[in-house]
Amino acid sequence: MAQANTSLTKGQTQEPDRKRTQFSAVDEAAIAVLVEEFYRTVRRDPRLGEIFERRLAGKWDEHQGKMQLFWQSVLLKNGVYKGKPVPAHLKQKELVGDDYALWLDVFRAVVSGLFEEQPAAEIIGRAERIAQSLWLASFGVAGSQPPAALTSDAHAWGGGSCLR
Ligand code: HEM
Repeated sequence: MAQANTSLTKGQTQEPDRKRTQFSAVDEAAIAVLVEEFYRTVRRDPRLGEIFERRLAGKWDEHQGKMQLFWQSVLLKNGVYKGKPVPAHLKQKELVGDDYALWLDVFRAVVSGLFEEQPAAEIIGRAERIAQSLWLASFGVAGSQPPAALTSDAHAWGGGSCLR
């Protein structure tokens, strides 16, 4: 006897685990969600999660607050971030070159899930440029090019840097 199989239809129409907002523009509220979602995700990555945990155990709120200011400065150009990312990463001797590609994989996935295509491309393009700068600061020698994995076609914004 044939039975109607409704499971496929049900599966297709199920809501994702967490209802996702698709932000159409970048503002402080969207950046707060981005930072929260990025760290929620990256902490589950076996390699990066461990690195972050070693440095930031007990200091997650402080770090995420700082990262909100960082992304506001980068994306909204409001100058609220006053830190120094380059030395913060140079002192992490356990980092290897591929870690930046791993970081970007997580970041791209989170941004693509939260933002519409155009703002997502802008945010990812900015992150890629900064990741390239951090990679060069840590692993570059004269004439080095950052790995191809740190570049996509998402370079919508140019200029400006929070890096020191
Ligand atoms: C290899 C991948 C990365 C790892 C494992 C990593 C890890 C960390 C850790 C553990 C800290 C805290 C350092 C401390 O306070 O002792 C930190 C700080 C920071 N990271 Fe990263 N990071 C990575 C890539 C990036 C990228 C690509 C960006 C930017 C697009 C970024 C932006 C920052 C900023 C702005 C800070 C705060 C620096 C400060 O002012 O103290 N990181 N990172």
